[in-house]
Amino acid sequence: MLIRRKKASGVASHEITPESVYLNRRQIIKASGLVAGSLVAGSAVSAFDAVMPKDKTTKFAGVAKGYSKLGETDKLTPLELATGYNNFYEFGTGKDDPAQNAGPFKPLPWTIKVDGLCAKPGTLDFDDFLKPHALEERIYRMRCVEAWSMVIPWVGISLADVVKRFEPQGSAKYIQFETIVRPEEMVGQRGRGGLPWPYVEGLRIDEASNPLAILAVGLYGAPLPNQNGAPLRLVVPWKYGFKGIKSIVRMSFVENEPKNTWKAMQSSEYGFYANVNPKVDHPRWTQASERRLDGGGSLGGLLAARRPTLMFNGYEEEVAGLYAGMNLATHY
Ligand code: MTE
Repeated sequence: MLIRRKKASGVASHEITPESVYLNRRQIIKASGLVAGSLVAGSAVSAFDAVMPKDKTTKFAGVAKGYSKLGETDKLTPLELATGYNNFYEFGTGKDDPAQNAGPFKPLPWTIKVDGLCAKPGTLDFDDFLKPHALEERIYRMRCVEAWSMVIPWVGISLADVVKRFEPQGSAKYIQFETIVRPEEMVGQRGRGGLPWPYVEGLRIDEASNPLAILAVGLYGAPLPNQNGAPLRLVVPWKYGFKGIKSIVRMSFVENEPKNTWKAMQSSEYGFYANVNPKVDHPRWTQASERRLDGGGSLGGLLAARRPTLMFNGYEEEVAGLYAGMNLATHY
């Protein structure tokens, strides 16, 4: 597998958030009078500026550790695999295409449009979008619908906080997300044969408000590499990876279920909910087990041992309540 991206410094897991940095951030927060998670934009500025990297080669200057629940056998996926084996069809359909082709993509400057059924719509510059929110590290399992999985330390903000901030109206039942369309920088968006663009995803508002859902801006303590969805992507760890839409430019509060790309392409194989479920097989392969890409096994970790897939990817306790009364076999 070809990986052209420079090694982003090969951090070991224990180096991601050294305690000294974490304490430092707490002092910054205290000094600025900011309560973590506060939505008061003005008071958050100093903490934000202190934490945000100045450019893509710099790391976040300390990020608080947020919710992470791993099993005893969960090991972090090496950075090289997490950034070298990707799905991002805008840059090609091969697993190493994104790493090879995403170099010229420019994730900054960036704007995010928030519209639809909400009281505070607007088009925000990337920094202004993030500023009111606390950045956190979350280590999550990511289970692709193709039956492989990884364990990734993300840096991100709570999607629940973002939802609250834009004040959805009562009639808003879903959020629709869209990826940027930039064929001049995204080779997969040129010509015929790709997916219909933009890539679209969606969540019910109550799903988006679950504390596990985040908008990620980084992994392994550094800004997101282009191939992982720079500068902003969705992470919903109890759902199949295709829900984790990358390089988001638009979020719309809507009444009806969004037409997400993979369901629109092939509704007999991919649904809207896409909750990880070992009991509901993909028509062409089993979902009862998965290949964990954690560096173990041969072929640079690509031929890893299979392990049983967990209901809701192991987050059943946190999210099962969202689907009470729903038939999970038909809402796949
Ligand atoms: N987002 C966009 N815009 N385009 C894509 O092709 N692929 C999805 C998801 N988000 C995809 C996307 C799929 S199928 C998966 S498994 C994850 O991104 C992969 O994320 P990763 O490459 O960071 O591991």
